[in-house]
Amino acid sequence: MLNELKSEITTILISTDRSVDSRLQEICDLLKNTVPHYDWVGFYFKNGDKEELKLGPYAGEPTDHTIIPFGKGICGQVAVSNENFVVPDVKAQDNYIACSITVKAEIVVPLFVNGENIGQIDIDSNTPDPFTSADEHFLEFVNEEVAKMFS
Ligand code: SME
Repeated sequence: MLNELKSEITTILISTDRSVDSRLQEICDLLKNTVPHYDWVGFYFKNGDKEELKLGPYAGEPTDHTIIPFGKGICGQVAVSNENFVVPDVKAQDNYIACSITVKAEIVVPLFVNGENIGQIDIDSNTPDPFTSADEHFLEFVNEEVAKMFS
């Protein structure tokens, strides 16, 4: 199912007649509405020169965490590690920022433009331990396609 979404994602992202945010919003909506274990889908970006992330387009419940300092939570850790972070059980994490009590698991994949970590895609799931390497590979593909808009 994830592989079948790839061509649709590429088509959305190459629509240069639309704003970057509008295209990212459509990606968030598509992923949340199509993949059963994706319950919140959003992009965070480095906030200018600050050592913090700022929430961009997202689909799902609004979150209070629109700004996340580097190092804080799963997102803030990925901002400094440059590595994918798969969390099968959010309760087992001590450096975790809870957005909703329904969330059981999370995956964060960094977004690189010309080798620089400029942000990330963040997905929350209400299903315990739902993410596999297929999700990681798929989200790396999504971010590579997103990166083309910025390079
Ligand atoms: N849980 C994240 C915070 C962002 S929300 O999931 C939308 C974290 O620990 O960084």
